[in-house]
Amino acid sequence: MLKRLKMKMKNENLMEKIISLCKRRGFIYPGSEIYGGLAGIYDYGPLGVLLKNNIKKLWWNKFVESREDMYGIDASILMNSSVWEASGHVDTFTDPMVECEKCKKRFKADDPIVGNKCLECGGKLGKEKQFNMMFKTQIGAVESSASIIYLRPETAQGMFVNFKNIVDSFHPKLPFGMAQIGKAFRNEITPRDFIFRVREFEQMEIEYFLKPKEWEKYFEYWRNEMLEWIKMIGIDMNKIHELEVEKNDLAHYSKRTIDFEFDFPFGRKELYGLAYRTDFDLNNHKLTYQDENTNIKITPHVVEPTFGVDRTILALILSVYREDTTGKDIRPYLAFNPSVAPIICAVSPLLKNKPKLRSYAHLIYKLLKDEFGRVMWDDNGNIGKRYRRQDEIGTPWCIVIDFDTLNDDSVTIRERNTSKQERIKKERIINYIKEKL
Ligand code: GAP
Repeated sequence: MLKRLKMKMKNENLMEKIISLCKRRGFIYPGSEIYGGLAGIYDYGPLGVLLKNNIKKLWWNKFVESREDMYGIDASILMNSSVWEASGHVDTFTDPMVECEKCKKRFKADDPIVGNKCLECGGKLGKEKQFNMMFKTQIGAVESSASIIYLRPETAQGMFVNFKNIVDSFHPKLPFGMAQIGKAFRNEITPRDFIFRVREFEQMEIEYFLKPKEWEKYFEYWRNEMLEWIKMIGIDMNKIHELEVEKNDLAHYSKRTIDFEFDFPFGRKELYGLAYRTDFDLNNHKLTYQDENTNIKITPHVVEPTFGVDRTILALILSVYREDTTGKDIRPYLAFNPSVAPIICAVSPLLKNKPKLRSYAHLIYKLLKDEFGRVMWDDNGNIGKRYRRQDEIGTPWCIVIDFDTLNDDSVTIRERNTSKQERIKKERIINYIKEKL
């Protein structure tokens, strides 16, 4: 019991440290903060954007650019509301909800912490109701039921409704996939756990169209691809668990789903999903595929690997957060893979007010910036403070220009995880980093 309590406190403490680091260092801020915030909404700061873009670039490269069977699209967030009627979202994209009769606060009825009393005021909870999670808005100047549209709750439908366009433009053979990265919106009843469950988030999704007989083969194929991605990006594989979703819990469109769960500090929860959507969506949109050689018309089936960008970021930061306790003070750092780190290297003059050091350092900075792009100039505070700051944002290398540099054209390069320093010649810096990348 005591052990469990201690573990709970440790995990809560870890989340607090991560949330604080993300805000302090410019990764993630609470949305609309100066007006008291907005529940379930977060803004990404400069380093958060860099991290997010790196993740999305790596994903796009692995699943779209390096393949010949994948068609990338960027569909609109706003779609004709008939799409959401056909897809089943208007009728079934719901969560069970209970409302406090006294303070009117709403809770997810299937949340294990919700009993029969309000968690806020202790009031009586009313009867369970189904709550549709799509955000409604209106298109055009006239308010009527015909003008109601929804913010998309998944990017997937943008791909299904463009299926015919892709077939007509590119004549792909089965199996082939469509891929998209974009925003999705869900009016979650209880957004919580930082960026884990939010109301506005990003998804990276693939709809893989195939012959019905082949779904099991490709389900297994995509299962392995997803695991490979998780490993490649640097998420801790020891914290990943596959969950075969029970029949009763399957989404309305799925015949089989595997959730890839991650051990978050607040519990083991879904990171990604892999679903066999059968011909559910194409059938509902009345779309078919005709083989150009045989002229046989079929409705392809679909295997859908889906990845949440925000959950990737949270799982990744939790996977790479370390505390070095070998020194006098604890040294926190983020051990990102260089390919995903927001900043690849930082360049500093040892002393801020020495013009010769500064102009030399600027030359090195420019050289590296032209080569790698994600390079930071850092002359704020003393060198110890700069190292601390770069460690906390996960910069793999810091390069320092000192008085010896002016004589021998060599610089100090310091490695984040070990704090080890090496002296290397100016001409070697680019290759040194490239070799490690
Ligand atoms: N197209 C299928 C689909 O949308 P989902 O399991 O509902 O499936 C896919 O969502 C992924 O989107 C999840 O695995 C998760 O990574 C992410 N996701 C879903 N709801 C989210 C939320 N409220 N906040 C952050 N990420 C979310």
